Amino acid sequence: MSSSSLLLMLLLVLGVCDRAAGAKKQESVVPPEDHGSRLRGLWKLHMRDAMLKGKGSSPHPIREGVKQQLLYCRVGIGYHLQILANGSVGGVHKPTENCWLKVFAMKHGVVGIKGVKSGLYLCMSGAGLTYGAEKFSDDCLLKENLEENHYTTYSSLSHPGVYLALSHKGELRKGNSVGRHQSCTHFLPRRTP
Ligand SMILES: *[C@@H]1O[C@H](CO)[C@@H](O)[C@H](O)[C@H]1NC(C)=O
Repeated sequence: MSSSSLLLMLLLVLGVCDRAAGAKKQESVVPPEDHGSRLRGLWKLHMRDAMLKGKGSSPHPIREGVKQQLLYCRVGIGYHLQILANGSVGGVHKPTENCWLKVFAMKHGVVGIKGVKSGLYLCMSGAGLTYGAEKFSDDCLLKENLEENHYTTYSSLSHPGVYLALSHKGELRKGNSVGRHQSCTHFLPRRTP
């Protein structure tokens, strides 16, 4: 912030000097309006740069351009993952508005998942419980692994061996009692219901 205001002051001072110099010369090549718009352009560039830099440390790591999708789990009759407004995570056979998710990359092979309706991030505790949280934390960093059968598994980065999993009835399963070779941990991204 302070460096931004410093730069603004510098730009304003430069602008004033330029204008004064221009006024002295009867035939200024560059009209005063152009100085103004050039300064505004520089300022806009600087602000965009500052905003882009700020995004890296933002508590909401979602980037624009991430499309919403469903996550289909092949266990039982097949369920779509849902995140409810009260933080409960589970599955429903027929997708509802709570099933639309944004899966966004955090670093190579690591993603975050956010419920579009609830605005909650999908997180996993060390005890193996999956829950929706307002604040993005280390619990919400998920390792995304494409398995040999082309299904994807999601496991906790902070708590190794804890997997995202649904039961045969579509209920949430504790993530520390399952593995990547079980269908309850196998998900497929879908763009249409
Ligand atoms: C959230 O709501 C669902 C359905 O309304 C309910 O079954 C579940 O127990 C609730 N979970 C919590 C943590 O309150």
